Amino acid sequence: MQRTRRLRRTPALRALAAETAIRKEGLILPVFVRCGQDVREEVPSMPGVFRYSVDRLGEVADAVLSAGIGGVMLFGIPEEKDERGSGAYDAEGIVPRAIRFLKRYLAERGKAFVIIADICLCEYTSHGHCGVLNGGEVDNDASLPLHAMSALAAVRAGADMVAPSSMMDGVVSAIRAALDAEGYHHVPIMGYSAKFASAFYGPFRDAADSAPQTGDRKGYQMDVRNGREALREALIDEGEGADIVMVKPALAYLDVVRAVRERTLLPVAVYNVSGEYAMVKAATERGMIDEERIVEEILTAFFRAGADIVITYHALEWAQKRGNV
Ligand code: PBG
Repeated sequence: MQRTRRLRRTPALRALAAETAIRKEGLILPVFVRCGQDVREEVPSMPGVFRYSVDRLGEVADAVLSAGIGGVMLFGIPEEKDERGSGAYDAEGIVPRAIRFLKRYLAERGKAFVIIADICLCEYTSHGHCGVLNGGEVDNDASLPLHAMSALAAVRAGADMVAPSSMMDGVVSAIRAALDAEGYHHVPIMGYSAKFASAFYGPFRDAADSAPQTGDRKGYQMDVRNGREALREALIDEGEGADIVMVKPALAYLDVVRAVRERTLLPVAVYNVSGEYAMVKAATERGMIDEERIVEEILTAFFRAGADIVITYHALEWAQKRGNV
């Protein structure tokens, strides 16, 4: 008889033989920033997730530092939107202001974590699409310079990394060229390489006020049915100069995470999205699941599937409860 139970008998033996661990330095917390003063408002569909005004970001920074996680990814909710999403590349826009605040806050304390700026137009366009419209369709090539300008605005403000999430073809090269032309050779790009047209983004669109006013995103985000194409996307981003490739969403796409892991030598990130978080919170509120154990199991699965970096709304709660044991 093969006795696989021998190594499962005690907690000490199980800990010794464990193949995977959640690496808290690899966790990234998404943060929503909005206009106004002294604002900290909970997102209705995401209990425990808040929108902050810039002046309250010190609280987030303190929590990230004490939890010891890797960093934050910033999303902006601008005061005004227009057809061309100009708030996304305004030097005085919400995300550049948030970055400058956080950089100064950290410098004054001699501390650091990684500040990543999500680069997309959908939070800033009146129509809610991720690029500019031309005859009702998102015009890929006309949108690229706007993404490059948005990345430049974030990097000039001090962003440590930019992450283009619009699924425009060529967006990684467009941003790389713009950054290099200004001497920002050292700033990495994390591509949202395999981003699927998913129903799991519902609560985020509520949080960021970024739902498309007409139509959907299926003309640019990936078809849920395609795994091979996801590999192609990851390899294209790598070829365009991405430093990290991402798969998004996470839970229903771990096959894709594994496949990408096996085909690239770059770090692989996975985005545990808003709908995945909301389902855990809703089931917890109804007393249906043990939240702490579920979150531990979910985060472990991401690392087991081959992710090096996990972007998750659970990051702080998990690291505060479990990260130091
Ligand atoms: C912007 C963007 C979205 C998310 C991250 N960046 C929304 C979308 O594509 O509709 C989703 C994140 C989440 O659901 O947590 N393009």
